Amino acid sequence: MSAADAPGPVLAPPPAGERSAGAPLLEVDGLRVTLVARGRQVHAVDGLSYRVAAGQTVAIIGESGSGKTVSSRAVMGLLPPSARVEGHVRFAGVDLVGLPERELRRRRAVDLAIVLQDPARSLDPTMRIGPQITEAIRAHLPLSRRAARERAIELLGRVRIPEPRRRYDDYPHQLSGGMRQRVVIAAALSCNPKLLIADEATTALDVTTQAQIMHLLVELQAELGMALVLISHDLGLAATYTDEVVVMYAGRTMEHAPTRELFHNVRSPYTKALLGAIPRLDRPPHDRLPVVQGRPPDLTRRMQGCPFHLRCPSAAERCAAERPPEVVDPPGHRFACFFPHGEGNLP
Ligand SMILES: Nc1ncnc2c1ncn2[C@@H]1O[C@H](COP(=O)(O)OP(=O)(O)OP(=O)(O)O)[C@@H](O)[C@H]1O
Ligand code: SF4
Ligand SMILES: [Mg+2]
Repeated sequence: MSAADAPGPVLAPPPAGERSAGAPLLEVDGLRVTLVARGRQVHAVDGLSYRVAAGQTVAIIGESGSGKTVSSRAVMGLLPPSARVEGHVRFAGVDLVGLPERELRRRRAVDLAIVLQDPARSLDPTMRIGPQITEAIRAHLPLSRRAARERAIELLGRVRIPEPRRRYDDYPHQLSGGMRQRVVIAAALSCNPKLLIADEATTALDVTTQAQIMHLLVELQAELGMALVLISHDLGLAATYTDEVVVMYAGRTMEHAPTRELFHNVRSPYTKALLGAIPRLDRPPHDRLPVVQGRPPDLTRRMQGCPFHLRCPSAAERCAAERPPEVVDPPGHRFACFFPHGEGNLP
């Protein structure tokens, strides 16, 4: 880590699960997304529901290809026109699914923001960092160039870019990876979004920088009262920073519970397998989760049974034939499995 990358003092995040949830800002309800790849339909998301309130953080975790990005793009209205989106994505009570493109674009610009994994794709390498933020601000807020510039400098300071007034004129290549990601976060915050989706926002960074950026996101979230959806393949991140966790596999929700409850009382064999696959210390930090033995199912075929049945150590005949219904046990803890771990009612 370079000295310039050193973080300023940050608040410790409130312990996961201790932030109280108000009325939901975002309600994803029965979301289904079908995409087309090489002429075939891909059932990328098959029934996802979650809610997130202002000041609350929900993690969506799962292996590669489980539908995390597609579901967040569906929330943002950023899927290709050929995508079929069913279900509801209510933001502040308004269903965004089927909203006219113009209205969606307006909301997306002001109320919703997304931070992507790869800052290189989010920043224009030929343009200085400050003006990139200033332009984003001026595109959506009625501010003069000078006022927008001041706001951009303030935002750079807020994400702990040292000497923000001087760094305003830096090009992206003059910054470290961690600093570039901070700039991307500053740009995402430029219109005071009510909801921020961080899609693997720290995956490309080393562990120390990753922790700094996560602290920063959580601190800014608390300060600005944003709702935060954290998309990750990293269970450690989810355990540390979130209030609720949704575990996705092959487009389906396998388990969904308050964070503390989920990690203390795992019910789904899939979550158990993911926990068992946490990278060892001798692996590169925050490498992709080593894949649970076997391959995920082909999403171009409609699955009759549980999507995990070919890889699941607890699978029985029934698992291949029937879709397990969603069970709630204990209250607030949902999972879809015929033979769950732990105590409680079986479906
Ligand atoms: N534009 C697209 N067109 C067709 N299929 C797509 C498209 N984008 C994603 N998919 C498919 O949808 C499924 C879900 O992909 P998605 O990118 O949401 O996974 P993910 O959980 O974000 O994975 P990762 O952890 O690798 O980012 C995958 O089978 C993927 O191949
Ligand atoms: S329903 Fe069956 S295959 Fe699916 S996770 Fe549960 S036990 Fe495993
Ligand atoms: Mg993804």
